[in-house]
Amino acid sequence: MSDTRERLPRHVAIIMDGNGRWAKAHALQVAQGHRRGTETLRAIIRESSDIGIEALTLFAFSTENWKRSAAEVGALMNLLLEYFTSEIDELDEKNVCIRILGDKNGLPGPQRQAVIQAEKRTEANTGLKLNIAINYGGRDEILMAAKKLAEKVERGEMRAEEITAGDFEAELYTQGLPDVDLLIRTSGELRQSNFLLYQCAYAEMLFPTVLWPDFSLDDYHAALDAYARRDRRFGGRTS
Ligand code: IPE
Ligand code: IPE
Ligand code: MG
Repeated sequence: MSDTRERLPRHVAIIMDGNGRWAKAHALQVAQGHRRGTETLRAIIRESSDIGIEALTLFAFSTENWKRSAAEVGALMNLLLEYFTSEIDELDEKNVCIRILGDKNGLPGPQRQAVIQAEKRTEANTGLKLNIAINYGGRDEILMAAKKLAEKVERGEMRAEEITAGDFEAELYTQGLPDVDLLIRTSGELRQSNFLLYQCAYAEMLFPTVLWPDFSLDDYHAALDAYARRDRRFGGRTS
């Protein structure tokens, strides 16, 4: 579509789902599904940077994913470390600015160090804002913001009745980022699973049935085209 570029979402968020089903369908271990999933992630990040998306937020590991077997959690943590070690040079060269959304203190030491280093190394970069949600939960995030504001009130730094949406947003992991314009969840599941609950208030949502390891650049462009055709009203009227 010719006007897709003009109607590019500023902020795309993706729930990368379906690695387990992909592995099962190919008679592979679940870890292999996650590994293939990181290849899709590489391609989508590169494409987002190339076409000029302002912010891309990827759901990599939820606060609920710790419930999975130790073997699967271990495989995911290993992939995380591998990813940050192998990709950081290219991401930095591409001027990508990395931010981790979620509780980094809950991560194992090496993973915590790697993500903190990636954030530090790319903090001055002015290209794609790449946010990776790891040990992230939307309810946790909202609760954390509420507590931080309550502490400020307690310390006498602000008055409760003066708290604005801006004050609240400044306490979220996503501070300074635009609201999510487009939320994509692969694998056909029709739920948000505790992802960016506050930030998706007016997001357009798409639920392609393709499993994350099979999600192609064509699928991504189809999603961006579908977004460009959506009529966003934000409660008002456009006609
Ligand atoms: C998404 O794939 C990746 C993570 C949750 C880390 P899943 O592992 O949830 O894949 P399915 O839903 O079992 O197919
Ligand atoms: C959401 O997917 C989390 C990530 C993609 C990281 P899940 O597969 O964990 O979500 P549910 O359990 O199907 O809701
Ligand atoms: Mg899943």
